[in-house]
Amino acid sequence: MPLPSAPQPDRDTSDPGGDETTISSGTFQAAIGRSAAIWADLPANPQRYRVLTGDRPTGSLHIGHLFGSLQNRVKIQNLGVTTFIVIADYQVLTDRETADNVAANVREIVLDYLAAGLDPDNGRTFIFPHSHVPALNQLLLPFLTFVSLPELDRNPTVKEEIRAAGLRTINALMYTYPVHQAADILFCKGNVVPVGKDQLPHLELTRKLARRFNERFPSQPAVFPEPDALLSETPVILGLDGGQKMSKSRGNAILLKASADETAKLLKSAKTDSNRLITYEPESRPEVANLLRLVSLSTGQPPEAIATEIGDGGSGKLKARLTEALNTYLAPLRARRAELAKDPAYVAGVLRRGIERANAEAESTITAVRRAMGMVYET
Ligand code: TRP
Repeated sequence: MPLPSAPQPDRDTSDPGGDETTISSGTFQAAIGRSAAIWADLPANPQRYRVLTGDRPTGSLHIGHLFGSLQNRVKIQNLGVTTFIVIADYQVLTDRETADNVAANVREIVLDYLAAGLDPDNGRTFIFPHSHVPALNQLLLPFLTFVSLPELDRNPTVKEEIRAAGLRTINALMYTYPVHQAADILFCKGNVVPVGKDQLPHLELTRKLARRFNERFPSQPAVFPEPDALLSETPVILGLDGGQKMSKSRGNAILLKASADETAKLLKSAKTDSNRLITYEPESRPEVANLLRLVSLSTGQPPEAIATEIGDGGSGKLKARLTEALNTYLAPLRARRAELAKDPAYVAGVLRRGIERANAEAESTITAVRRAMGMVYET
């Protein structure tokens, strides 16, 4: 059964329908509007939605992932929404030559998901690596016929990733992975994609590919939905060096699996400023504001109140407060993670069940795709 499209208020009619992939501010505003409408509708109508989101398995996850995306996924899952989580293992190869430790990284990421509360035992949460879903990957072929090289070349997120990785030669998967990502989303007819703002250009492309496929190969009902982004309300968590986003590769992250002592040590090294009076001023004091926000996320208290409480205790007191709050908050998650890590067969079973369901979805979609394209040859 096709899933109905999500409600789409404020539809952006300024889209020329041409090959513009750099995302205009009108498109961006429209995406924010639709995201808010879905958040409002989700609790009442979870059955309208099918979530697909995922990560590259480049290492285990950190508290930026937890507060920025994992908690959202768990919340949506717990509202009763069917949730597919793709571990984008092929995508690892966009900016490096070999997927070193990929199997270990996949296992670590699954442990992080499960510890954070994603629950495949509920029968509607599925976790799978896309390398194990052949028909998903096959969608790439028709999708590639709907994009031009200049369009791929203009993608701002791809450009930024090329810059950040300092690549000398850039492989073609780097340019085409946003199309692959559309296959990740559309193979199961995902209509809601919880992502950060950096992924919006990819989502715009996914919407275009769905639209172009449905237009060029019309069928009743249309083969693909046009999925919407679901944006997190949590502001980006900065790394402990301040200034930039928390990221394992920048070495400024607190991993979910870190011990309480490691966490304390990392927080001692966090960058702050020399003003002893702690105040919540995100614009002028981003590092201090980031730490206050992390206390707030761990305790539920507003950051301003935490700042007042610390007063002129300086960054030493702020860090001590955060260490305590974060370690307390993460303790149950870490304990659950340690338990699950002792049971590799369970983790393997989670993936096996995810792969099985993903293949069933992908087979059914590729059959509809071939039929729409007229590639049906049995008599
Ligand atoms: N590109 C995403 C990232 O780097 C990971 C990803 C792959 C993804 N496929 C996806 C995210 C599909 C959402 C939907 O974080």
